[in-house]
Formats: sequence, C-alpha cells, structure tokens
Amino acid sequence: MAIERTLSIIKPDAVRQNLTGQINSRFEDVGLRIIAQRRLSLSRQQAEGFYAVHKERSFFRDLCDFMCSGPIVVQILEGNNAIARNRELMGTTNPANAGEGTIRKDFGESVEANSVHGSDSPETADSEIAYFFSVIDITG
Ligand code: CMP
Repeated sequence: MAIERTLSIIKPDAVRQNLTGQINSRFEDVGLRIIAQRRLSLSRQQAEGFYAVHKERSFFRDLCDFMCSGPIVVQILEGNNAIARNRELMGTTNPANAGEGTIRKDFGESVEANSVHGSDSPETADSEIAYFFSVIDITG
C-alpha cells in the first residue's frame, strides 16, 4: 500500500460544536498522521476558489456561504492509502445515507453541514494541499 497525503477540512458546523479533537482522534485511531494543521476563516473569494469545480452547481452559492460562516480547520493526513481511508472514515456526502460509525453519520447535520471534506483522488489531494499549505509548513 502506498503512503499518501490527503487534504482534510473540519467544516464550520463541526468546529462550532468543538468537535476538532474528537474528529482528529478518528484519524489517529486508524493510523493516519496529522502532519500539518491550521485553523482559519475563509473569505468568500477563498471559498469560491477552493470549490471552483462546483461553480456551475445549484448549491455552489450556499456551499460558499456556509464555508465562510465560521472557522474551519485544514489539515494534511498522511498514511497508507490515506485518500480512500479518510473517505471511509467520513462516510457519504449526505449524512442521512452515511454508514454507522462514520464521521458524517455521527456529527453531520445536512448535506451542506456535513462536518468534513476530504480529497477524492491523488491529483485533487495535491492541488487541495497546495491551496492551503506551502512546502515549509509540512513536516512528514
Ligand atoms: P464536500 O466533500 O466538501 O464537497 C462539496 C460539498 O458540497 C459537499 O461536501 C457538500 O457539503 C456540499 N453540497 C451541498 N449541497 C450538495 C448537493 N446537493 N450535492 C452534493 N454536495 C452538496
């Protein structure tokens, strides 16, 4: 299995509920290492840039409003098969359909306020990590 890196975001709903530590434990419990982490508030422009791939979707405006509604925590997870492993831990986009014991099932409120984001491919992981972190921020 390949050692991979993936971008994770703990979204405003989860940060508001003070769930950062509990969510981080889910990652660490399966051996994913948090090798970089920062808490920040996205500007509207930064949210639109991050989610630009969705700009034609009907939910784009609401998604960007939500992502600017409070602080988020951005982080890089590293480990064996980290991209798929993180997506398993997160569960499906809509918490209502997510598997038992997943982060979105346990903490998500709606398809928008679904607690976490995770990169969906190696290419996306590279570009999403570069959106938030410089080489100098990352200590593997
Ligand atoms: P995320 O993994 O961050 O990627 C895009 C986000 O758009 C997704 O999680 C959801 O939170 C959000 N979103 C809002 N509405 C929808 C929708 N109808 N379908 C898919 N994603 C949606």
